[in-house]
Amino acid sequence: MVAMTTIGFIGSGNIGGTVARLAVAAGHDVVLSNSRGPETLRELVGELGPGARAATSAEAAEAGDLVVVSVPLRAYRDVPVEPLAGKVVLDTNNYYPGRDGNIPELDDASTTTGELLQRHLTTSRVVKVFNNIYFGHLRALARLSGAADRSALAIAGDDADAKEKATAFLDRIGYDAVDAGMLADGWRFQPGTPAYGLVYGGDTENFRESPGVPVDAATLRAKLDDARR
Ligand SMILES: NC(=O)c1ccc[n+]([C@@H]2O[C@H](COP(=O)([O-])OP(=O)(O)OC[C@H]3O[C@@H](n4cnc5c(N)ncnc54)[C@H](OP(=O)(O)O)[C@@H]3O)[C@@H](O)[C@H]2O)c1
Repeated sequence: MVAMTTIGFIGSGNIGGTVARLAVAAGHDVVLSNSRGPETLRELVGELGPGARAATSAEAAEAGDLVVVSVPLRAYRDVPVEPLAGKVVLDTNNYYPGRDGNIPELDDASTTTGELLQRHLTTSRVVKVFNNIYFGHLRALARLSGAADRSALAIAGDDADAKEKATAFLDRIGYDAVDAGMLADGWRFQPGTPAYGLVYGGDTENFRESPGVPVDAATLRAKLDDARR
């Protein structure tokens, strides 16, 4: 049983919105936020029902027992620091230089996206997760615990308790977890690696049209082990 009940969202687009749907379906309350303001989230809140509300990013951070950060990476410094103090933060962000601009320490592989967010959120405990799966597959592949076709997602983080909480949350919303190590190991499931995206879509070019292909923990572990920098 997970004690946490409210999940906050900084960013409520494809991935944030999908995690919010899964969280509401699992019985959590959710507080959504984006860059344009709570009124622009009315439709999504309506779809999600009484367990959902919209707020500012600071309010969503404050309200969440667990907070999902799911914004274009270039915006990571906008994530509010103080209201996230002491909290577990689930970081879905990926680095796409074409979208985010060049970040030298990612270009030279001297750090990872998870470490960047952790450096910004010095008083939070960041866990990298949800970044290696297309949002359509994330929604489609969720299964109850024990289902034969349940999928696993990779997690990485520097705090064991935070990873336990992330694992418990994943379990509630429909996924097993595979621990890929510290935030510094997050590159093992970043874009371009064997554990990223395509594996949940059947490894086809048209993976976005794929209904999703379950990936069990052993398969995911093997993909993580195959990663080369
Ligand atoms: N799409 C995928 O399948 C997928 C899969 C894995 C990981 N990811 C990664 O996850 C992150 C989110 O991707 P996405 O596809 O969900 O993006 P998206 O659909 O474009 O949604 C981004 C969300 O972030 C919000 N946002 C942008 N700047 C913000 C700021 N400064 N403060 C607060 N909120 C802000 C946006 O709000 P506004 O609309 O109001 O600006 C929107 O709600 C990205 O880093 C992406 O690379 C995506």
